[in-house]
Amino acid sequence: MSLLNSIKEKAAKSYKTIVLAEGEEERVIKAAEKITEQKLAKIVLIGDEKVIASKCPEVCLDGIEIINPNTANLDEYANLLYELRKSKGLELDKAKQMVKNNLYLGVMLVKTGYCDGMVAGAINSTGDVLRPALQIIKTAPGISTVSSCFIMIMPEGCKYGDVMVFGDCAVNPNPTAEQLASIAIASADSAKKIAGIDPRVAMLSFSTKGSAKHELVDKVVQATALVKELAPDLAVDGELQADAALVASVGALKSPGSEVAGKANVLIFPDLQAGNIGYKLVQRLANAEAIGPICQGFNKPVNDLSRGCSVEDIVNVVAMTALQS
Ligand code: ACO
Repeated sequence: MSLLNSIKEKAAKSYKTIVLAEGEEERVIKAAEKITEQKLAKIVLIGDEKVIASKCPEVCLDGIEIINPNTANLDEYANLLYELRKSKGLELDKAKQMVKNNLYLGVMLVKTGYCDGMVAGAINSTGDVLRPALQIIKTAPGISTVSSCFIMIMPEGCKYGDVMVFGDCAVNPNPTAEQLASIAIASADSAKKIAGIDPRVAMLSFSTKGSAKHELVDKVVQATALVKELAPDLAVDGELQADAALVASVGALKSPGSEVAGKANVLIFPDLQAGNIGYKLVQRLANAEAIGPICQGFNKPVNDLSRGCSVEDIVNVVAMTALQS
């Protein structure tokens, strides 16, 4: 069974409630219908029921709950938002306005437990989707940094393996060593829980084991030491160049005896420039399928879509969100 089908099967078994905050967007409405038909999750759409029905008159909305922020009583959410953010200077009147914003309302539905997770980003930027979640959902206990990973499904016959996980390719522009360690541990966890692989984590750099001296390399060395301290059972090695991480002969030469070098399946990029460029190069040049970005480290799952996403992409991300909750 393909990885995506197995993710969908697990999602259907858990049957979570997922809110799609951009409920008036056509692709989102069509995805809601598919998810409901396939019984992958219960869907809550945020939007005006009349607009939703007029955008996609052919779509069957049976079994889909619609919350209209203009008519629903949102006092409970406004009061809670005010309580959560008053120390940051938020006033009650402002909180009342904010919960009418689909993305803030979606996050409040998750925060209160009415929904198990949120998916958005078909018409909003990554920053706009993540900011309310960073402010309100916050990180899971013991995790300091929200980050993201992509599951890379490699083309058939790829000699480096069928599935790899790349992190962080979408959230933290310039992580500190501590954040990089957190990204590595969270990506390994996603590799296990979502991609179903036994993680071997390479902390990537332009240096392998001291071959270059630079403060950027020091950060990766420090992050690797932190991962070893925080997750002593995790197979991790660094700093490694990409070829030392992936190619057995190069790994054996540059990091002899390593349980990761030459056979890494989780690649941790030193910053967002490298991570974002890296996953897109592999996606385009090697024809890999990139599933994500999958957000990791939130106390409850929130996931971002690409604005170019298809209906099927939304269905897939909802299934993964259900699995994370
Ligand atoms: N983990 C945990 N908490 C965080 C993180 C993080 N990574 N980043 C910010 N926060 C918290 C802050 O502490 C703050 O909390 P507080 O308000 O309770 O004090 C809150 O989130 C807001 O922080 P800001 O610094 O105001 O948030 P910012 O406006 O910088 O937004 C964001 C954070 C959206 C993640 C930003 O770093 C960003 O835009 N990243 C890049 C996203 C992007 O463009 N990716 C590339 C495209 S995606 C693609 O190609 C697939």
